[in-house]
Order: sequence, then C-alpha cells, then structure tokens
Amino acid sequence: MLKRTLLGMSVVALLGLSVLSGCGDKKDTSAQSQEKILRVGTNPTFAPFEFQGKDSELTGFDMDLIRAIGKQMGYKVELHNLAFDGLIPAISTGNIDMAIAGITINDDRKKQVNFSNPYYTSGLIILVGPENNDIKSLKDLEGKKIGVQIGTTGAFKAEKVPGAKVVTFNNSDEQFLELSNKGVDACINDHPVVAYYLVQGGKGKMVGNVMEEESYGIAMKKGNEELTKKVNDALAELKKNGEFDKIQKKWFGA
Ligand code: ARG
Repeated sequence: MLKRTLLGMSVVALLGLSVLSGCGDKKDTSAQSQEKILRVGTNPTFAPFEFQGKDSELTGFDMDLIRAIGKQMGYKVELHNLAFDGLIPAISTGNIDMAIAGITINDDRKKQVNFSNPYYTSGLIILVGPENNDIKSLKDLEGKKIGVQIGTTGAFKAEKVPGAKVVTFNNSDEQFLELSNKGVDACINDHPVVAYYLVQGGKGKMVGNVMEEESYGIAMKKGNEELTKKVNDALAELKKNGEFDKIQKKWFGA
C-alpha cells in the first residue's frame, strides 16, 4: 500500500517535472507536428504594446514583434497572460521562457534577468484630468494622490515624490479609470501608452516633460546567453529586412 502510494507520487512528480522542464521545446512524437514552442509572458493592459482586441485576442506592437521574432527563430509563440509584477518571477522559475511587456531595462531588473537589445525608446509622463490646472510638473505632485501600475517604473517614480499617496493598481487600464472617476489626482505611466489612451478618446491631458529616457527589452532567464543571442539575432534580422519598420508603422505611424 505504502509502496503503491510512493510509486504514484513519483509518477506525479515525474510528470510535473517533464511539464515544467520542457524549456519551450514541446516535442510531439507524431512526427508531422514537431513544433517548437516559445512560452512568452505578457501583461496585456498596455495599449498599444499589448492589449486584448476584439474576441479578446492579444494584439499590439509587442505582440506583432514577438510573433515575428518567434517565426524568425523557427518557434511557435504561446502567449501567457500574467500580472506585470509576476513576469520576472515566472521567468526565474522557468514557467515561461521570456516576457515582452514594454519592460524597461534597468539595473535592478538586469540583476534578475537577461535582456535583449533595446527595441523601443520610451519615458514616463504625468496624466491629469481635463480640468486640472494646478499640476504641471512632478514637483506639483507632492502630497497628491498618484495612480500607478504595481511594479512599474511609474510606480517607482511616484514612490519618490515627497508626501504623495501612491495608489497601486494591478492593471494599467485601472489607473486611468480611477483618474476619470477622480479617485486619484494624477497618473504616472509610459508616455506612448498615455498618448495612445488620449488619442483613443481617453479623458485628460499630459503635463510636464517626458521624464528620463527608458528603453524596452525582452526579458529572459538570467544567464541564458544562447536564447538571448537567438532573440538578438532575430531582432537584428527583422530590422534589416524591413519587418520591424512595418510593425512600427502599423502601430505608431510614419
Ligand atoms: N515600462 C514600464 C516598466 O517597465 C511599464 C511597463 C508596463 N507594461 C505592461 N504590459 N503593463 O515598468
């Protein structure tokens, strides 16, 4: 009886292991469908980089880019919808092979993951409600309520504002909603995302300058130089063959 239980347990453990250790190479023995899979995490609340389109399919600049990179590398991309602050932990545990989510490359994150070469230049901006005339810069946010998405560079920036009350949201969209409901005085988020929100009819206005330059990179397991090189090679090829430009034009115009 005990033996049986132990045997049962080890089978379960083995199954668990094989599911987790695939490292993206899911092999199908039926020969015809020997597809290599890349498990990619994202947080689709960040239009125009990743968001849910009609029929809730994942769309956006990052989504087109990673599908093109996967194709270039000979992999099928399998997207995983995760919390933004869960992406790096999921890479570290091996639950996903990489993450693309408008992730800013910074020193702290570089200690935890490998990054691809930068693929987009961004920066932070303040968004206020349409009738707000007293917030014009970061300084004016002192003592105010600031909405941010958890674990983002916008959140880190807000936390440094003296006396500010930082209200964190799990999704980027929720902070905009809270601003229009006047639950917060301002939001700090990535400039292209705020600009897109306003172009799409979102209410409010951007104030002040874009705060220091940030670059987005694709995150992969720390020390996986082989995968990092493959991704960088694919990215370079897409830049060379015009595919990258096409995707850029599609989402940001000329
Ligand atoms: N660029 C910012 C950061 O890396 C925000 C990214 C948020 N991305 C998302 N898909 N929600 O912290």
